[in-house]
Amino acid sequence: MDKTKIIDGKMVSELIKTKVTAEIIEIKKKNYRLPSLTIIQVGDNKASSTYIKNKKIACEKVGIICNALTYPQTISETTLFNIINKLNQDSSVDAILVQLPLPSHINSEKIINTIAIKKDVDGFTPQILGRLMLGHYQLLPGTPKGIMLLLEHYQIKLPGQHVVIIGRSNIVGKPLANLLINASTTVTVCHSQTKDLSSFTKQADILIVAVGKPKIITPEMVKENAIIIDVGVNRDENNKLCGDVDFENVIPKVKMITPVPGGVGPMTIAALLENILYLYYQNNNS
Ligand code: GUN
Repeated sequence: MDKTKIIDGKMVSELIKTKVTAEIIEIKKKNYRLPSLTIIQVGDNKASSTYIKNKKIACEKVGIICNALTYPQTISETTLFNIINKLNQDSSVDAILVQLPLPSHINSEKIINTIAIKKDVDGFTPQILGRLMLGHYQLLPGTPKGIMLLLEHYQIKLPGQHVVIIGRSNIVGKPLANLLINASTTVTVCHSQTKDLSSFTKQADILIVAVGKPKIITPEMVKENAIIIDVGVNRDENNKLCGDVDFENVIPKVKMITPVPGGVGPMTIAALLENILYLYYQNNNS
């Protein structure tokens, strides 16, 4: 593995966590209430449980209070709606995170819209996404924010670059496309209905892959010296964690690449911690 090419998300996330920890030490010194996050999980989706466990560990490590609430798969939309409304009114809760996906009988958009904007730590409410589109960045969704912080840390020049994003989700592809347009890149968004995907990926100066399919990006699909950001978290044929990019075979061809694990994943969590702190300060000043 060529370490000089690795975009080390674990290392950059540790720098952010150190800063967050320092701020929380100051809060403790003043004997103020600590920042708090409430996570809502519906059902027992294995991937969601892992993500939530990682978020909880990260919070507790930096001194943020994290309450993870789990409800049965069969919970009604109305009950969930009432739970969120209670949390909206609870002044000891700074941040609310509803882990997605929700079961199909629940309208996710409606549930997300129930979260008070001032507690929307994921930045998934229409108001926050709308502000993002307009270039107002008080709070950004975790994964797009984490990716932008990585690009910034490694001083990757953006204006004029052609960024190809594969994936058009509301969580990653769409917000990221807007952030990168605002950063003066030329953005192409590809998705499951894109014809001749390779013809686009081969043009990318920066290729961002958020598909959720193991190793679908092969060396033939990338341009020489491209920068690759891999958002995928999958298991390969040996049940080993891997991304959407065939890392071992792609790395000789590219300028820089994020590994899985240790790339985008830790940055999403670091961005979440920053967002919790941001909401805490907002909450205490209003
Ligand atoms: N499911 C996958 N990623 C995310 C995320 O960033 N936030 C939430 N709430 N659910 C997710």
